[in-house]
Amino acid sequence: MLRDKACGAITEGDVGTEFTLAGWVAKRRDHGGLIFIDLRDRSGILQVVFSPDVAGKFHELAHSIRSEYVLRVKGKVSRRPEGTDNLDLPTGTVELYAEHLEILNECDVLPFLIEDGTDASEALKLRHRYLDLRRPEMQRNMILRHRVSKIARDYLDNLDFLEIETPMLNKSTPEGARDYIVPSRTNPGKFFALPQSPQIFKQILMVAGMERYFQIVRCFRDEDLRADRQPEFTQVDMEMSFVDEDDVISVIEGLLVRVFKEAKGIDVPVPFPRLAYSEAMERYGSDKPDTRFALELQEMGDLAEKGEFKVFLGALKGGGRVKGLLGTGMADISRKDIDDLTAMAQSYGAKGLAWIKVREDKFDSPIAKFFPEEVLKEMAARLGAVPGDMMFFVADRKSVVFDVLGRLRLDFARKLGIVPEKAWNFLWVVDFPLLEWDEQEKRFSALHHPFTSPKDEDSESMLKWEADPGEIMSKAYDIVLNGFEIGGGSIRIHRQDVQGKMFDLLGISEAEAESKFGFLLEALRFGAPPHGGIALGLDRLVMLMADAASIREVIAFPKTQKAACMMSGAPSQVDANQLDELSISLNVLEQDEEAES
Ligand code: AMO
Ligand code: AMP
Repeated sequence: MLRDKACGAITEGDVGTEFTLAGWVAKRRDHGGLIFIDLRDRSGILQVVFSPDVAGKFHELAHSIRSEYVLRVKGKVSRRPEGTDNLDLPTGTVELYAEHLEILNECDVLPFLIEDGTDASEALKLRHRYLDLRRPEMQRNMILRHRVSKIARDYLDNLDFLEIETPMLNKSTPEGARDYIVPSRTNPGKFFALPQSPQIFKQILMVAGMERYFQIVRCFRDEDLRADRQPEFTQVDMEMSFVDEDDVISVIEGLLVRVFKEAKGIDVPVPFPRLAYSEAMERYGSDKPDTRFALELQEMGDLAEKGEFKVFLGALKGGGRVKGLLGTGMADISRKDIDDLTAMAQSYGAKGLAWIKVREDKFDSPIAKFFPEEVLKEMAARLGAVPGDMMFFVADRKSVVFDVLGRLRLDFARKLGIVPEKAWNFLWVVDFPLLEWDEQEKRFSALHHPFTSPKDEDSESMLKWEADPGEIMSKAYDIVLNGFEIGGGSIRIHRQDVQGKMFDLLGISEAEAESKFGFLLEALRFGAPPHGGIALGLDRLVMLMADAASIREVIAFPKTQKAACMMSGAPSQVDANQLDELSISLNVLEQDEEAES
């Protein structure tokens, strides 16, 4: 036993008692006579005092202590003298008078200061992640993450879910993102894929009679990274037999209520509101709307028709849409600001950004002349624009209109400061279409994944080929928190004929389906129960609960934007003989070019 109490656990009740403590030197103030050390461990910080009278020869040794040295000290706890309390520290009314000191290890000169809010670059912090993780805020994040996992695991265990592991080395299946692939030495020329999720296995576990499965599981997706995306991330994944949408939804609501109560002391009211996908898109321009504030998109197609602005009319004629967004108090922004907003809208795919400034006595805009006064007034009324405000419009294909205005909405809300900080707006997005048209590939793709069930009435018409594929609705649901998709799932197709039809609609041939998912299709023929499930993105959930800016802050060893580990240097080259064993030869030319760039 190297220590008998944690630093942060020392209280006034310990005054007069002797303890052996161990930890790192967070701070050292050497006053010649008295030496003060802030000793830090995971639990917190305690001030340790070395005085020549009490510490004797160890006072001399204490002069050599530097930041982040590892110490073991023995001494008595005392009440701090009058007027020296440190109210910033939970242990700020007491201190330990050291009688014995052992330097357990020294520390090199630090690349950055280990403290909350450090201004060190993220690259430097990731390079020395073991130091970054010593910072109290990172330790709090790791503790929170542990708590959330533990609460979720206990909750699901109580509901009779079984935790079952599924393979990491899998068959590559063409769904969603790009796979990470792993060569097989024993099968030259063949590859495993790391799981993008345990989707197929958890469905097969239902066919296997497990009834309720869960797993806190690592998933791998080789996709472009963002603040809320990592190439490897963790899901709280589950699947249940004999359930419908409401059953899955209530299991998750119960889980989130428990997690927020036990990990943060927050009561979240259930049931969470539900919003149809189409309404989410129309009102917020997003399938993961941040509903902490209103600022909704407004329909402008009917009003645009009453004017003569060619851009708007052209978009409508081509089957597109015109929608508007309010720019509260923005009427006095400069030409340059407008150009910047336009450039931003263009970077999101819009051809332009039309605007009208609302003044006391007129509408100020290069396009005002195309509309009768009453129409301009109706536009303002619909958006709730008053003098001093500005109206913005995008005319384009539906998806572009939603995307651009949806992003501008978030941007405006942030700038206006109308996003409440301490709000937890959970929202179910439901009633998704089963398929979405892929403009580039000129074919339908699954909005969720190819195993998502259509609504019952649509299954029937789909089997008879009567349904318009774009109109088929699915039994999928996403859970959104403050504008982040923290989970998604669906009731699955459990009938092999419906699954076959689904592949048809996706343009996947029978032979291809057989070679890619044959094992699932076969399993579905052997008494598959109706089943469904969901996966929560653990990293995203903890990021939001920790109020962190990125999921990198709540992952112990995250990857950078380029999907690399700054600490270990992964990915790296491997020995030529390793490649030989795997029967792999490299396209060396490309490698050289990369090394040079
Ligand atoms: P989906 O693909 O929606 O569903 O993933 C579920 C949740 O995982 C999180 N997530 C991510 N988090 C961090 N980095 C990423 N790259 C990343 N990708 C996804 C999100 C998301 O909501 N098998 C289905 C679930 C099901 O149908 O049961 C699935 O994986 O929070
Ligand atoms: P133009 O007629 O090209 O001079 O454009 C007039 C205004 O309409 C400019 O403010 C453009 O940014 C804007 N605009 C152009 N195309 C679109 C569009 N598809 N949707 C909304 N505004 C547009």
